[in-house]
Amino acid sequence: MFSPNQQQQMQVQVKYGGVNPVGIIKKKIDEVVLWPWQKQQQKKKLKLVGGGLSVSPMGFGTWAWGNQLLWGYQQSMDPQLQTIFNLALRNGINLFDTADSYGTGQLNGQSEKLLGTFISQFQGNEVDNIVIATKFAAYPWRLTPNQFVNACKSSLDRLQIERIGIAQLHWSTANYAPFQERALWDGLVAMYDQGLVEAVGVSNYGPKQLPKIHHYLNQRGVPLSTAQVQFSLLSMGEDQMEIKSICDSLGIRVIAYSPLALGMLTGKYTPANLPRGPRSLLFRQIIPRMEPLLISLKEIAEKRGKSIPQVAINWCISKGTIPIPGVKSVKQAEENLGAIGWKLRSGELDELECAARDSPAKMIQNVFQTT
Ligand SMILES: NC(=O)c1ccc[n+]([C@@H]2O[C@H](COP(=O)([O-])OP(=O)(O)OC[C@H]3O[C@@H](n4cnc5c(N)ncnc54)[C@H](OP(=O)(O)O)[C@@H]3O)[C@@H](O)[C@H]2O)c1
Repeated sequence: MFSPNQQQQMQVQVKYGGVNPVGIIKKKIDEVVLWPWQKQQQKKKLKLVGGGLSVSPMGFGTWAWGNQLLWGYQQSMDPQLQTIFNLALRNGINLFDTADSYGTGQLNGQSEKLLGTFISQFQGNEVDNIVIATKFAAYPWRLTPNQFVNACKSSLDRLQIERIGIAQLHWSTANYAPFQERALWDGLVAMYDQGLVEAVGVSNYGPKQLPKIHHYLNQRGVPLSTAQVQFSLLSMGEDQMEIKSICDSLGIRVIAYSPLALGMLTGKYTPANLPRGPRSLLFRQIIPRMEPLLISLKEIAEKRGKSIPQVAINWCISKGTIPIPGVKSVKQAEENLGAIGWKLRSGELDELECAARDSPAKMIQNVFQTT
């Protein structure tokens, strides 16, 4: 006979395929909830322009869910990813970002497929308000609006839902294939007009290209709800700030991707402790040159009784964006949930931004971002 404690431990092991994530053995993991006062604040949702969509002040990113090359994904992680999904929904997070190109090699589309499975197996009515933001890749063979409509239908199949929450163009082709750009824009219009999507957004559109698509969509009666850009304490250059102010003036919400600079703003990596895979090449160059920022993050985290990732994510929220940190473990998800429900003070924002400016290293700009 096993004691109740041993039985619980075995249930956790079954759920995680034999892996015991630190610190959660004694809890019933699907039911980890925050303190009532935190939950209260997280119920607050942000309205998107046009339509009736509201999203939580932070979403979760799912690029890693299916990506072996950069993120070391393995299918044995799926039960843990499902627990993350359940945990997030139960704690007021209703925004999940994905893309039709997420998933490497034979796992292409895996991120959307996993979300589809998790949505269909979720027990509870929180799932009724879920907002899936997916992105459509501007593959060179997608040359007509109808091809984007078909891509949208394929995403809907993988996601097992009837409508996409936010349909985003993953990147603009304006820099290298301007003739394709109109097909992208008309593709969004067609998805919206056919009722396949509740709202539309863009990703990696720069300060020149963004007003153009906004104007075009506006003329076609389609509100542009969101613009997704790389935005963090390591990525707050002139272009990013200009994009933010353009969005503010046009009523577009900014979704901040890579808010933890791929993990560098968690404080857990050092030149002697680099992640496996291609990230190590980037981190080796940047981490030694972001010391002032890491020191400031640590000081503020200690003073506020928060962790470094919580402060880094909260900075994005305090700047008026919706961060979508990527999460790979229940521990990370629990920690990142603690980034909402409070706000950095203006003096702390100044300190962090000064330290970021004093740090010679910055994130490399995504090559897909246009001017
Ligand atoms: N539109 C675009 O072109 C674009 C581009 C990039 C990303 N995105 C979206 O934005 C999302 C987030 O960006 P991202 O995944 O690139 O990077 P990120 O959010 O800056 O970093 C995520 C990574 O940091 C680590 N991490 C997260 N929380 C942690 C915690 N509390 N403690 C310690 N480590 C933690 C995890 O990796 P390790 O544990 O392996 O360190 C995690 O995968 C993506 O998932 C995707 O949905 C969009």
